[in-house]
Amino acid sequence: MEKLVIKGGTRLNGDVVISGAKNAAVALLPATLLVDGICTINNLPYISDVKISCKILEELGAKVTWNGNNEVTIDSRNIESSAAPIDMTSKFRASYYLIGALLGRCKSAVVGLPGGCNLGARPIDQHIKGFELLGATVEVIEGKINATAKKLVGTSIYLDKVSVGATINVMLASVLAEGTTIIENVAKEPHVVDVANFLNAMGADIRGAGTDLIKINGVKKLCGNSTYSVVPDQIEAGTFMLAAVATKGDITVKNCIPEHLDCLTAKLIEMGVNIDINNDSIRVYTNKRPNKANIITMPYPGYPTDLQPQIGVALSLAEGTSIINEGIWDSRFQYTAELNKMGANIINQGKSAVFEGVEELYGSFVEATDLRAGAALIIAGIVANGETSITNIYHIDRGYENIEEKFRKLGANIQRVVEEDIF
Ligand code: EPU
Repeated sequence: MEKLVIKGGTRLNGDVVISGAKNAAVALLPATLLVDGICTINNLPYISDVKISCKILEELGAKVTWNGNNEVTIDSRNIESSAAPIDMTSKFRASYYLIGALLGRCKSAVVGLPGGCNLGARPIDQHIKGFELLGATVEVIEGKINATAKKLVGTSIYLDKVSVGATINVMLASVLAEGTTIIENVAKEPHVVDVANFLNAMGADIRGAGTDLIKINGVKKLCGNSTYSVVPDQIEAGTFMLAAVATKGDITVKNCIPEHLDCLTAKLIEMGVNIDINNDSIRVYTNKRPNKANIITMPYPGYPTDLQPQIGVALSLAEGTSIINEGIWDSRFQYTAELNKMGANIINQGKSAVFEGVEELYGSFVEATDLRAGAALIIAGIVANGETSITNIYHIDRGYENIEEKFRKLGANIQRVVEEDIF
């Protein structure tokens, strides 16, 4: 088992280059199944969710060629199967995109129920509602989702809940459907727009991505033969911005789209942090404890739930008392118990937590309870006095490329250690 060992007490300083967005990449890769041709995707983050997505594409009959760590060429002309390997799909959440993509391409999909971070209930009823309205029959039997359709026909779909996954999945299923599909009350995250841009570059006709309503005019075929670059990861960028705040450091986050981070920069200014924004970079610097702040997480362009644990670390060190209300997931505060082991003073009840700011944290043995919790604990370990060990780091490897190397370049003393299992 691997763990991260951090010797803390460091102020981070320097530049960090942001990778392509995980949550875009894990949708773009299944989307290539819709392309009857060859396409190349670059700026892919080299993370385990991406590697496993590529393996699944190969199992389905696609030819996947890696051109270095961050680019793949995918030839989906000879897709042989619409049944994805259950052992692989159950390893990560975004495997649900295979349902929309395979249904669109083959009019049939068999995919294991998705795995991923345990953040509480993660229903996919809105995905299924969309597929059914398009004309599919969907059954969940013995841990598998089985979707079939004689044909898919465009229609109006109103999502009951703003959902990133349902928006993208229904979009994937309707690109090759007959006629026009209108999806209302959709998610507006940058990765939703990125998937629409990719599909349009391959010949789809999708309008309105990034607004509340997406209109898809079905086309007969997507052709490929082009190269697409994954949008920069706004959550990775935000993670390093918050690392600068918590460590009273000075970090320039490069290769990001500053507008995607407007909600975070506004909050950091409220917290007394200095921010310089350029075309594709943001400098975050401070030499004092942040001011207290209140946060409520919401769909984009609200404050993202995926940056909630990371700002939790900064607020646990802020002057005064802060409150975070989690608006998306039921169990996104598991990291607070780990932070309390490091000297934080956080009371969590349900979907709210009160952060009584403390002056310092100290090193401890903690567990990455999910992906973003793991990133938050790395930041806490870098701030803390003494040594911190973080276990269950496979969660972190699912979503951050070269995370310890990037933090080391900023001055952190962080090592990956292989530990013998005791039991
Ligand atoms: N929801 C439903 N029914 C559905 C779908 C969602 O009730 O059919 C609810 C969920 O329970 C949740 C809310 O709607 O309360 C939003 O869920 P959404 O579908 O937007 O989440 P997701 O697509 O499963 C993606 C990201 C998550 C991120 C959320 C919210 C991927 C692969 N995952 O999940 O990312 O937290 O959107 O922005 O894109 C992460 O990267 O750490 C992560 C968890």
